[in-house]
Amino acid sequence: MSILGRLFYKSRKFYDDDFDWSSYTADSYHRRLKGDVESNFRTVSGEGDLSLEVETGKVNVRGDALHPNVQLILEVIGQLQPTSVHEVGCGGGDHVAHASVLFPDIQVTGGDRGATQLDLAIARHPQLLGKIGIQDITMPFSDQWPRADLVYSQAVIMHIHTAVSHFVALSNMVRQANKYVLLVENVQCHNFVQDLIALEEGGHLAWGKAHLYQVEGSTGARGILVSREPLDLPELVSDAQMRAGEAPSVRRLRRSDEDSGRALTGFVREWRK
Ligand SMILES: C[S@@+](CC[C@H](N)C(=O)[O-])C[C@H]1O[C@@H](n2cnc3c(N)ncnc32)[C@H](O)[C@@H]1O
Repeated sequence: MSILGRLFYKSRKFYDDDFDWSSYTADSYHRRLKGDVESNFRTVSGEGDLSLEVETGKVNVRGDALHPNVQLILEVIGQLQPTSVHEVGCGGGDHVAHASVLFPDIQVTGGDRGATQLDLAIARHPQLLGKIGIQDITMPFSDQWPRADLVYSQAVIMHIHTAVSHFVALSNMVRQANKYVLLVENVQCHNFVQDLIALEEGGHLAWGKAHLYQVEGSTGARGILVSREPLDLPELVSDAQMRAGEAPSVRRLRRSDEDSGRALTGFVREWRK
């Protein structure tokens, strides 16, 4: 390689997450929360604002609607009835706070790599103090992370693109969960189904086998449910199923393929065929 080529090779940004997480609250999140989310949806719930219709699994909301993704998360919790839930990348804490209002008997925790995100969460929901903490889901697994029956994320793993970090995150979420992982993510940003299957086949999932399902909330949001045991739900075998009906983003899908292409899974003895 030429000297110029070598210099360029060393200084280039190879791949990166979508945001600089150290300044993310001020750069983007706080403004988005105030401007786009709070003006359209209920972000804080008090006692009696949310209720679960046990027969249908639907969450009823008094007053302003929940964002469809949040509606889905709460409905999945209501239908699966875990004893504990943990949110990875809980940000401003709204979803964990809704969950603890609606399901006071379920133990709720949240983790985020951003200290300023957690500061914001406590400012918005002081009752979360002691329930949330710093967690980088792309680090090697930590026994200090709270275990939970259900571990979920919303709009977190979709933004992780550094090296093979999103594979690490998915594998860690499965290990942190006793029974279920719920991904409420933009399904064009990663080949979530393909990547989970590759992790399973390569022996990277603590459960050994994982069952993949598509779940849908009563207001239209869709998510990927990973379950340790088989469930009576529509099975997912491809990302195309999750992407059905969405206008494809060529840029995102190309990046997803590049991300998936970085994974070397398992232990391959026959590498030359
Ligand atoms: C788009 S925000 C979503 C926040 C929240 N889930 C919500 O729906 O409002 C992405 C969040 O993921 C967090 N995050 C990014 N990388 C992470 C990592 N490696 N481990 C844990 N959290 C992470 C960010 O700090 C940020 O709070």
